[in-house]
Amino acid sequence: MNKPLPVVVLISGRGSNLEAILDAIADDELPVEIRAVISNRPDAAGLQRPALLGIRTIVIDHACYPSRHAFEAVLQTTIDAFEPGLLVLAGFMRILTPEFVTHYNGRILNIHPSLLPEFPGLNTHQRALDAGKRESGATVHFVTPEMDGGPAILQTRVPVLANDDAGLLACRVLEQEHRILPMAIRWFAEGRLRLDDTGVVIFDNAPLKRPRILLPEAQEPT
Ligand code: GRF
Repeated sequence: MNKPLPVVVLISGRGSNLEAILDAIADDELPVEIRAVISNRPDAAGLQRPALLGIRTIVIDHACYPSRHAFEAVLQTTIDAFEPGLLVLAGFMRILTPEFVTHYNGRILNIHPSLLPEFPGLNTHQRALDAGKRESGATVHFVTPEMDGGPAILQTRVPVLANDDAGLLACRVLEQEHRILPMAIRWFAEGRLRLDDTGVVIFDNAPLKRPRILLPEAQEPT
């Protein structure tokens, strides 16, 4: 059997996407080893579960550094000590500089709660509602220097319902995030997914022209 892929996960808060990754590993569905979970916020609830599982948890509080570069220098040194084959941003709420992102080119994934390229950045759900969208969703993409702008790998869609507020919509989208993030990580770990030198996503040995779409469970063919 192949060795599991070493992974470092960055979080900032609740950590439910991290939990979805940990659940998939526990179910033997994800051939990865989480070597460390790093949070930029000391109070991140998402640090609790990995700590209970004996996974290294580290806080690097961005507020303690005089500049973004100073913070990232420590972050990068810390990450690299774990020699990850993949870095996963699972609700990591800091903008990363192009230098940092380039250092990990082709081996950083991010989950974003919209159908990118729509609504990059913050307040995604409210902006989707304000724009009168009938549909929203989530995207896993490779990270490039452009914020939430890297090539999309996998998306899933959810309806926007008449009585939605941002919280309700966020919950519906989050459930789907928990399906697509472990799936994309699995593809990467299995060698089915990579970013080539020209920035094109290669999936199963062919360029991925548009993201794969995962249907909501209810709509999947039986
Ligand atoms: C998720 O919606 C993620 O897409 C966004 O922030 C949220 C983090 O949730 N970037 P959690 O910490 O994984 O529960």
